[in-house]
Amino acid sequence: MSSSFLSSTAFFLLVLLYLGSFHVSNGAQQGTYIVHMAKSQMPSSFDHHFLWYDASLRSVSESAEMLYTYNNSIHGFATRLTPEEADSLMTQPGVISVQPEQRYELHTTRTPLFLGLDVHNSGLFPETGPSSNVVVGVLDTGIWPESKSFSDEGYGPIPPTWKGGCDAGTKFTTSLCNRKLIGARFFVRGYEAINGPVDESKESKSPRDDNGHGTHTASTAAGSVVEGANLLGFANGTARGIAYRARVAVYKVCWKTGCFASDILAGIDKAIEDNVNILSISLSGSRTGYTDDTAVGAFAAMERGIFVSCSAGNNGPFYSSVANVAPWITTVGAGTLDRDFPTVVILGNGKNYMGVSLFSGDALPPKLLPLVYAGNASNNATYGNFCISGTLIPEKVKGKIVMCDAGGNPARIGEVVKAAGGLGMILANMAYEGEEILADAFLLPATTVGKKAGDIIRHYILTDPNPTASIVIKGTVVNVQPSPVLAAFSSRGPNPITPNILKPDLIAPGVNILAAWTGAQGPSGLESDTRRVEFNIISGTSMSCPHVSGLAALLKSVHPEWSPAAIRSALMTTAYNTYKDGKPIIDIATLKPSTPFGHGAGHVSPTTAVNPGLIYDLTTEDYLGFLCAMNYNSSQIRIISRGNYACDPSKTYSVADLNYPSFAVNVDGSDTYKYKRTVTNVGGAGSYSVKVTSETTAVKISVEPAVLNFKEVNEKKSYSVTFTVDSSKPSGSDSFGSIEWSDGKHVVASPVAISWI
Ligand SMILES: *[C@@H]1O[C@H](CO)[C@@H](O)[C@H](O)[C@H]1NC(C)=O
Ligand SMILES: *[C@@H]1O[C@H](CO)[C@@H](O)[C@H](O)[C@H]1NC(C)=O
Ligand SMILES: *[C@@H]1O[C@H](CO)[C@@H](O)[C@H](O)[C@H]1NC(C)=O
Ligand SMILES: *[C@@H]1O[C@H](CO)[C@@H](O)[C@H](O)[C@H]1NC(C)=O
Ligand SMILES: *[C@@H]1O[C@H](CO)[C@@H](O)[C@H](O)[C@H]1NC(C)=O
Repeated sequence: MSSSFLSSTAFFLLVLLYLGSFHVSNGAQQGTYIVHMAKSQMPSSFDHHFLWYDASLRSVSESAEMLYTYNNSIHGFATRLTPEEADSLMTQPGVISVQPEQRYELHTTRTPLFLGLDVHNSGLFPETGPSSNVVVGVLDTGIWPESKSFSDEGYGPIPPTWKGGCDAGTKFTTSLCNRKLIGARFFVRGYEAINGPVDESKESKSPRDDNGHGTHTASTAAGSVVEGANLLGFANGTARGIAYRARVAVYKVCWKTGCFASDILAGIDKAIEDNVNILSISLSGSRTGYTDDTAVGAFAAMERGIFVSCSAGNNGPFYSSVANVAPWITTVGAGTLDRDFPTVVILGNGKNYMGVSLFSGDALPPKLLPLVYAGNASNNATYGNFCISGTLIPEKVKGKIVMCDAGGNPARIGEVVKAAGGLGMILANMAYEGEEILADAFLLPATTVGKKAGDIIRHYILTDPNPTASIVIKGTVVNVQPSPVLAAFSSRGPNPITPNILKPDLIAPGVNILAAWTGAQGPSGLESDTRRVEFNIISGTSMSCPHVSGLAALLKSVHPEWSPAAIRSALMTTAYNTYKDGKPIIDIATLKPSTPFGHGAGHVSPTTAVNPGLIYDLTTEDYLGFLCAMNYNSSQIRIISRGNYACDPSKTYSVADLNYPSFAVNVDGSDTYKYKRTVTNVGGAGSYSVKVTSETTAVKISVEPAVLNFKEVNEKKSYSVTFTVDSSKPSGSDSFGSIEWSDGKHVVASPVAISWI
């Protein structure tokens, strides 16, 4: 049911479940497996790792198809095997693990202004030179290269460090790439192994995006400047990717039925080889632990200095729903913009209620029309209110406005009402959607309303002998306050794998985002939608992730020497979690202040991130030490590290010491918890003093030393934090706070989240 939070388009990409299907061949059931190899154990008789991989595979199957051999993302390969062959391969020398294939699911004109990044005040970020040498790689559904967002007008030569290129295929020639879109590849072997050959009349076996999601995310991160961009007139303005001077490289790994791990790893493999600087990944799987394929691929990318940003998922507001939580990944939740698409529902009793809609077309006649509740016009006694296809009785809805209860793809619900002869629709949120109203490009005059308004309207219909209504669609309004508001759908902490590392890391705009779209599909994503648009407005953490990818590209252009962890630190410690008036950011799910489990460090603030003062840096070695602290065994560490790293048995490793820019404490009986951090000075000389806040007396935070003096750039200083807690609080309690260092010019803030388990 989480799907009802998503935009119609993202919807069908999300209702996917774990694990690929199996093909039957030669009487035995074959599945796809990803095989991790201990490359250092390769016998010297092999000249090349491919030969060794192949020999290992042949020792269990003469005929097994080698789908991919990986060179950078993992040491190993993907192949098709029967479960018996897989078990037997597991016992071969040098084989660390044989994991079954996993299916992953895919989870803006005004945004740059909202973020304080105006074309004219972005002097902080250079217009030419380094910023145009940064390459943002996007793993997604591909690209619509004809979109104006990928025009290369005004771009200089392709950066000399770029090793990538473009693949030709269905409706895609290499000449569609240019100095903006410098890379476009597709990875389909894992998908075809499970689904059979791509039907090229329905789906492009090429980097071309038939879906829209990939074009949207790529243009959000780094699309060129396009004036007069809008969806059917809505949100009209100048569309501009966050790092609009950066170059784009797309890796199509998602297809009609999902994205497969073997293809994702191949995409990451190639992106590393091509030399991207940033990887934007708006999808997730359900494998837990850090040996998850995307996490493993992201580790290899991080080691090469590539910043990896991933969506937190759309499974909020449920506790501990956050995905992509590996500490070497930047995990991005979603908030709203200050822009809305309001509607007014006028009832026959004179009362008015606000809603949201992106319907553009012939308006309803300007008068009150008969209004019917779908639950009273359905042939399905139990679920009639949801307007499921084929359930509305045409005689009862013809010529009327139909009220349906939300649950599923909003545009599709509208399609059902239209097909049954309804003139318009009021779609009412239920408890699950609450007051979060996402905008949809309906195919009939329709509006979504929040739960409170929905309950009143439903009551009116059921009690008034002659209910009537009209719907007025008002267009676009800006400067909506308060904004940002945390999206209800945005997945929440605590971190389900390591509760002592706070996730998500931060939030960025992800609600009603305008960005470029595919020419292969209408804005609602429905087959019956024959409209074609250059831009579309959709919602999800899929949309917030590329905002952060773009911001990382900007920071990389100003500070090319910064590690991925340094970039994340700058974004986190400068993020804000209050409005200008000092009041805390609101969570639309509760209508109460949002907490670090929802917004992490807060909402990104790019103009301050460029000059953060201090950073919390992390190296590959630090992450490996973290895995030791997690008690990962040697094979698990090998899968991630792709090397011979071994934990030092004489050393004590602690998750609490991972130099993360936030603090999460799991109270498990003890009264005190000690954390250690090291900050690196990236500003001028200065004396930083600490300020701690704790929202309850049940938590006391003390920092030692309380002052850190820096004389020069790159100087490092360490401090320790002691959390003294009332361990008798009931399990399930939370408490929040912050630790802030300031030299009077910079504020380096870290959120604190304490949970009693
Ligand atoms: C969008 O704005 C531009 C510039 O203000 C204007 O010329 C254009 O007509 C507008 N388009 C729509 C569809 O409103
Ligand atoms: C690894 O390198 C080999 C040889 O260059 C190549 O054939 C293969 O496609 C590469 N693997 C990936 C996933 O790119
Ligand atoms: C309409 O539906 C409501 C709720 O499902 C029900 O209580 C009511 O009796 C129905 N009214 C008619 C006239 O069927
Ligand atoms: C009502 O719809 C539900 C969900 O589609 C279905 O499972 C059920 O069988 C339907 N009931 C009737 C009476 O049609
Ligand atoms: C390491 O842990 C994994 C997951 O629990 C397990 O499957 C594997 O057998 C272990 N390997 C070793 C060498 O202990």
